[in-house]
Amino acid sequence: MSPEPDVGVTGTRFFGDLTAGEDDIWSVAGIPLTPLTDDLEYDPYPLARVTLWDVNEAVAQTVAVLPVSWEVSCKTCHYSPGITAEIDVLRDHDTAFGTTLEADRPVFCASCHYSKPMAAYTAGDPEVSTLSQAIHTSHAEYMEALGSETNYCYACHPGFEYPHQRDVHAKPHNIACGACHGQQMTEIGRVTREAWVELPRCITCHSEDVDLDFEPEGVPYKNARGHGGVLCATCHGPQHAYWPATTTQDAIQPIGLQGHSGYIDDCLVCHATEPDAPFEHRDFTAKKNRPPKWAPIPTASR
Ligand code: HEC
Ligand code: HEC
Ligand code: HEC
Ligand code: HEC
Ligand code: HEC
Ligand code: HEC
Ligand code: HEC
Repeated sequence: MSPEPDVGVTGTRFFGDLTAGEDDIWSVAGIPLTPLTDDLEYDPYPLARVTLWDVNEAVAQTVAVLPVSWEVSCKTCHYSPGITAEIDVLRDHDTAFGTTLEADRPVFCASCHYSKPMAAYTAGDPEVSTLSQAIHTSHAEYMEALGSETNYCYACHPGFEYPHQRDVHAKPHNIACGACHGQQMTEIGRVTREAWVELPRCITCHSEDVDLDFEPEGVPYKNARGHGGVLCATCHGPQHAYWPATTTQDAIQPIGLQGHSGYIDDCLVCHATEPDAPFEHRDFTAKKNRPPKWAPIPTASR
């Protein structure tokens, strides 16, 4: 598969239209992204501009940070004189399992190991472990080499230099991967865990601060909705960059919408007039008739 320059494997380009999916979520797959600018400068948190058109009139615009880092540091451990880390990985695989990956390049891991994000391209081999099970379980014992002080998730997930977790949990609260996902590689690769579906939920820790009993189970955060069908991410930002995030790039969207960084707490970003009921952090569509958590504040005392 050799697409033209600036064209992705699905035929998508840098510029184009989003399409509405089942859940009314607009998306596009296969944009050919790299963390390099046109001038070949490294930019691990590049911005994409999204415009809402009403026929020919642009009615709204925002920017979002693209998750494109290539800091996947297999080379931390996979190095042998004279060959690249990629070849080292393939040779290790061939040695361990009698496959011929090095000879069969280019290799698409998901053609054998099921991976949910890749399911649109290939179903994988049902006899073979899923990619998440294979990599996390087999590497559990190898991680000791990095020392207990290291956040070893960054050995494969971007990254030691530019962390993808750059949210309010990382700083100032010092809550890292393990607190939400489980610290053990064997837990993440557990055969009975459904990869890409059984992901952390906010309610596990935030059950006392806010009313989150509507947070859906088995629906990843990025597709979950609250407050009358609004995506959680609309007000809280994307996973691992929950507002207030530590990067200036991630603050552009909230500052553009409400004039300050942090999660969206200005009602007038969406409501045409100041709502006459207090903010209810809940799903109005599902629980319309539930009594309010707080008594409405009388107008005279405001
Ligand atoms: C902390 C060190 C470490 C890191 C990081 C690491 N590996 Fe490994 N990996 C090993 C060791 C050790 C082996 C056993 C073979 C060897 O000694 O070279 C191995 C073996 C493998 C094998 C062969 C099957 C197996 O389980 O023995 C594959 C495939 C593999 N690694 C893929 C990867 C990929 C892909 C990445 C990056 C996403 C990666 N590894 C990152 C240490 C590591
Ligand atoms: C042609 C099919 C095929 C391809 C392609 C393939 N694998 Fe495998 N892989 C296997 C088989 C078979 C096993 C051993 C049985 C199992 O894990 O289900 C295995 C095992 C592994 C293991 C060790 C799992 C364990 O529990 O010890 C890792 C890690 C792994 N593969 C990673 C990769 C990576 C990374 C790629 C892409 C570079 C890849 N594989 C491509 C077939 C394949
Ligand atoms: C040896 C490399 C390696 C290490 C170390 C590693 N991961 Fe992964 N991880 C991967 C790869 C490769 C994938 C992609 C699997 C796929 O496409 O299905 C992945 C996918 C994931 C996913 C999404 C799929 C799922 O299972 O839901 C989560 C969550 C995850 N990793 C968490 C972690 C956490 C937390 C740590 C540290 C405790 C960690 N990983 C350490 C290689 C690694
Ligand atoms: C505050 C909790 C929290 C922390 C801390 C956290 N994650 Fe996650 N992570 C999530 C949630 C929630 C999702 C599900 C996002 C979705 O798909 O909607 C997720 C998804 C993922 C995925 C799947 C790909 C994606 O982005 O959806 C990977 C891989 C992952 N996390 C790795 C990590 C690693 C590595 C760390 C540490 C550097 C980490 N996470 C820290 C909550 C957390
Ligand atoms: C592992 C436990 C844990 C999980 C899971 C978790 N958080 Fe947190 N979060 C905390 C802690 C602890 C704090 C700091 C104390 C506080 O403000 O409650 C915090 C703080 C926050 C803050 C900052 C509050 C402020 O006023 O500064 C936001 C926003 C937040 N979390 C959103 C989320 C979202 C959204 C999710 C789900 C995707 C989530 N958290 C999942 C533990 C967690
Ligand atoms: C319309 C905007 C909006 C939507 C949509 C929204 N939130 Fe919130 N969220 C807020 C605001 C504002 C606060 C702080 C005020 C409060 O405590 O109610 C907050 C607070 C939180 C906190 C507590 C952070 C802390 O420690 O103070 C968590 C966790 C959280 N939301 C998760 C979610 C989840 C999960 C969803 C989706 C199921 C969601 N939110 C949907 C605006 C929203
Ligand atoms: C990101 C957009 C957004 C923000 C910000 C937002 N809302 Fe909403 N709100 C909605 C949507 C969408 C609905 C559902 C409307 C419907 O169901 O007709 C809603 C519904 C409501 C309702 C229920 C209205 C009804 O008819 O039952 C109240 C009350 C409300 N919001 C209050 C607030 C308050 C107070 C704030 C600020 C703290 C706020 N909202 C911030 C989008 C938002």
